[in-house]
Amino acid sequence: MDTNRLSKKLEQALNDQMTKEAHAAQIYLSYAAWADSQGYKGIANFLFRHAHEERNHMMKFLEYIMERGGRVRVTAIPAPPSDPSGVNNCFEKVFQHEVDNTNAIYNITNIAHEERDWATFNFMQWFVKEQLEEETLAMDLMDKIKIAGGEHAKSDALYALDKDLLTTPDDAPTAEKATEDKPL
Ligand code: FEO
Repeated sequence: MDTNRLSKKLEQALNDQMTKEAHAAQIYLSYAAWADSQGYKGIANFLFRHAHEERNHMMKFLEYIMERGGRVRVTAIPAPPSDPSGVNNCFEKVFQHEVDNTNAIYNITNIAHEERDWATFNFMQWFVKEQLEEETLAMDLMDKIKIAGGEHAKSDALYALDKDLLTTPDDAPTAEKATEDKPL
């Protein structure tokens, strides 16, 4: 008896996303290693912490596929892209990566909706919310580097930014937590 509760299409899409999350972890690891090599310990620390989160995302997909009776296929992880050319470029790459990942998450959510697979649709809502936070976090990075001077940021501004990122929380506050007397 076939106990796989996932369609072939969704099983494949979820496996692909599992690998994408592992790839994301590699991307953050490689950017973190680059940041450390440039002397930015705070930025490296932030990115290393984020690589860990991406591995957790990978595990959630892996567990979900198994939970639904599907077959997990662990494949090779593509190599991360080339090193950033500077801090501004690093944060731009992080932002673009998160937008691309949001599109991938939306695509799976769409398939689940089309197939009326409400269990997978419901599972994906966690990731829809998570991507909102991840994009907010990436936008905050863009704001920080913009204030520091963008591509032309001076070393004292980069020094302060690096120190700031050492203690920047891993989760960004989102609009649903805002109140009139306590805006974000
Ligand atoms: Fe797993 Fe940064 O999204």
